[in-house]
Amino acid sequence: MRIKGSVPLNGTIEISGAKNLALPVLVATLLTDDKIILKNVPHLSDITSLLDLLTYLGTVYNFQQNGTIELLTKSLKTTEAPYDYVRKMRASILVLGPLVAKYKEAKVSLPGGCAIGARSVDLHIKALRQMGTEISIDNGYINAKAPKGLTGCDIIFPIATVTGTENIIMAAVLAKGTTNIINAAMEPEIVAFCDLLNCMGASISGQGTSTIVVNGVESLHGTEFTIIPDRIETGTFAIAAAVTNGKLFLKNCKYSHLASFFETLFLTGVVHEEKEDGLIVYRKSEKIKPVDIQTAPYPGFPTDLQAQYTVLMSLCKGAASITENIFENRFMHIPELTRMGANISVHGKTAVVTGVNKLNGAPVMATDLRASVSLLIAGLVAEGETIINRLYHIDRGYENIDEKLRNCGANIERFSV
Ligand code: EPU
Repeated sequence: MRIKGSVPLNGTIEISGAKNLALPVLVATLLTDDKIILKNVPHLSDITSLLDLLTYLGTVYNFQQNGTIELLTKSLKTTEAPYDYVRKMRASILVLGPLVAKYKEAKVSLPGGCAIGARSVDLHIKALRQMGTEISIDNGYINAKAPKGLTGCDIIFPIATVTGTENIIMAAVLAKGTTNIINAAMEPEIVAFCDLLNCMGASISGQGTSTIVVNGVESLHGTEFTIIPDRIETGTFAIAAAVTNGKLFLKNCKYSHLASFFETLFLTGVVHEEKEDGLIVYRKSEKIKPVDIQTAPYPGFPTDLQAQYTVLMSLCKGAASITENIFENRFMHIPELTRMGANISVHGKTAVVTGVNKLNGAPVMATDLRASVSLLIAGLVAEGETIINRLYHIDRGYENIDEKLRNCGANIERFSV
């Protein structure tokens, strides 16, 4: 992607459906033999990867351009999720819970390493064992069997894990008795995910708090459901508006899903106006004010917006510290930003960012989804030309990003070499 920077973004960007809700929701369709209709599903390569895995398992689907998808899993072909599918996308581990719950067995490849950290799935495995699953790890695969079905119990997560919570909810909806998930993740995607399952006939309460109670039911049925807007996409474009000193209307986003993030942005001098169907975001103060942040599980500052926020702080008047508490290797954007003129030093899990007057365009390398988009934002504000390599990372999680930005004045083009 070639970006010619120093252009303020002005206009309207329509926020797509949330990737991190669409993924577990697609998997949850395995829990019923009925048809599920989902609306507002983003067209992303991560969604395609998951649909490939579901097709392999036996799901038939029809995905329309407008984001509506119909899925039906009438007869499962296999309970095995092979390495080739799982390695492309870690969220594939989500099939473990529903396969064991409904089909009493699963063989799922361990996801392996990941660019942003070790990201173990030990908590998923431990919780499933507690519910009565026999699990062995052989040749890189999780072999899970629950011939007598699963039984509800108290699951206490030592860390609030998003996909771990989702996996165990899917296991618990068809288990015997009640499962209490303690220290559950509280993200808006978790709340919406439980809403979907309740529409399918599950009995879940407490979603959005740290204790989720799931009463097992005999079976689930079909439904129709709309994916909520992507709060990370919203936050990413809010920062892009602020950094370029432009003004964006972020259509269809939800302020309440990002309230604490916008409170932080306000302290940096970035304001928002709430409209009926979205938010207008722009910078009120001429200078960007430094504000320290620490990433934390929801409702704290999202790790998925840390890299983008680092770009904002790299142009602040003063210095700010950014502490990454969720993943151990999520500063991969920093050496690249430094090559663009940012002044950042890393001390363990804290980056100290001293503001500079401007960034300069440079050829940079994308490493993971959020690091890549932070380089794109840096390119939008930098003087001169930025070329981002390995774009496929961005396409995993941002729908039509170049078109959305071009419509707001960005000078961006894709090319192949
Ligand atoms: N963890 C363990 N053991 C486990 C599970 C998690 O040690 O069994 C640790 C992780 O290594 C990490 C922490 O717990 O240090 C939290 O990880 P979590 O399980 O919550 O992450 P995840 O479910 O794998 C989801 C999102 C990520 C997002 C994180 C944190 C999806 C598909 N992915 O990952 O999204 O960063 O929650 O909010 O929902 C992204 O979209 O770019 C992305 C990486």
